[in-house]
Amino acid sequence: MTELLTIESIPQLQEQVRALAKERDAVILAHNYQLPEVQDVADYVGDSLGLSQQAARSDKSVIAFCGVHFMAETASVLCPEKQVLIPDVDAGCSLADSITPGELRDWQAKHPNAQTVMYVNTTAEIKALTDYCVTSSNAVAVVEHIYREHGQDTEILFGPDMFLGAYVEKVTGRPMHVWDGECHVHAGIRPSDIETVRAENPGADFLIHPECGCSTSVMEYVAAGDVDASGVHMLSTGGMLQYAQEHKGDGSTVIMATEVGMMYPLQLAAPDVNFIAANEKASCRYMKMITLPKLRDCLRDMSGEVKVAPEIAAKARIPIDRMVSINP
Ligand code: 13P
Ligand code: SF4
Repeated sequence: MTELLTIESIPQLQEQVRALAKERDAVILAHNYQLPEVQDVADYVGDSLGLSQQAARSDKSVIAFCGVHFMAETASVLCPEKQVLIPDVDAGCSLADSITPGELRDWQAKHPNAQTVMYVNTTAEIKALTDYCVTSSNAVAVVEHIYREHGQDTEILFGPDMFLGAYVEKVTGRPMHVWDGECHVHAGIRPSDIETVRAENPGADFLIHPECGCSTSVMEYVAAGDVDASGVHMLSTGGMLQYAQEHKGDGSTVIMATEVGMMYPLQLAAPDVNFIAANEKASCRYMKMITLPKLRDCLRDMSGEVKVAPEIAAKARIPIDRMVSINP
C-alpha cells in the first residue's frame, strides 16, 4: 500500500533515511528530476553522468541511486566493487527502451564501417555495443572529435534520441544516421509551447534540454534571427543548474524547457530568478516512482540491487571512458 506523506511525516522519514544511510555506509544520489523531499535527503543532486561519477568518487560501499534504472546501471559500470541500490527497480526510461541490442546490431550490420555514438540514456547492454557515449552537454564535442580522429567522411550511427541527433547535425553541419527514438516527456515539449511562453515573456533567456521536441524549432528561430542566439542555452540538467548558480542575483525571468522536477533545484540555486516551465505537464512518471518510503525500505532491506554482469560492464565502460577523456 502507498504510504501517504504529510508535512509532519516527511522530516521523520528523512531522519530515518539519513540514519539508515549511515548504518549501511551508503551515499544517496538524486537526479535533478526527483521529488523535492528526495532531493533534500540526498548527499548529491545532479545530472545523470555527474551522479555516476560522484558514485565512483565516493568512499562509501553502498550507493542508493534515486533516479532511473539506466543511471543506476551506469553507476554499477563505473564502480563495480560497490553495491548499487535503486528504490524501485521498475523505474525505467522510455528513451533507453527505444533501442534494443538486437536492433542496434542490425543497424550496425547495415553500416559496418560506422562509428556508433550513443547517449548515456541507454542500457548497459547498448553501451557495450557502442564506440562513444555522449551526454546532452558534450554530444557536439564528441562527434567533432570523431570526425577529426576517424576522418571527415566517417559514417556515424547516433542514437537513440532523434532531437539530440538533429541538434548535433545542425551544429556540426554534417548528416549522421540518427535513430528515431525519443523521450516521451521531452518530445511533448512542443514548438507551440515555446511560442506561447515566448509571447508571454519577451526577452527572457531560454534554457533548453536538447531532448526537447521544441529544440529544433528554437534553433530555426535563432537561424532566422527571430530569437537572439545569446539568450538560448542548450544544456544538460547539470548545465542548467550551473546557469542558475551563475545568474543568482540577476532577478531575471528565464524559461526552462525540460522535465518539471528541474524547477526545484533551479529555484533553490537562484531564488530571485523567476524560472518558468515551458510546459508544466512535462513530468516523468518513472522519476516520480522513487519516493521517500521506498528509499527507506531499500536502505533498510538492502533491496533493489542493480548489478551489471562483469563482461557487459567491462565493454560498457569503454565508450564512457572515451567520452570522459574527450570532454571531462
Ligand atoms: P541529464 O540529467 O543528463 O541532462 O539527463 C536528462 C534526462 O532526461 C535524464 O533522464
Ligand atoms: Fe527517460 Fe525522459 Fe524520464 Fe529522462 S525524462 S528518465 S529521458 S523518460
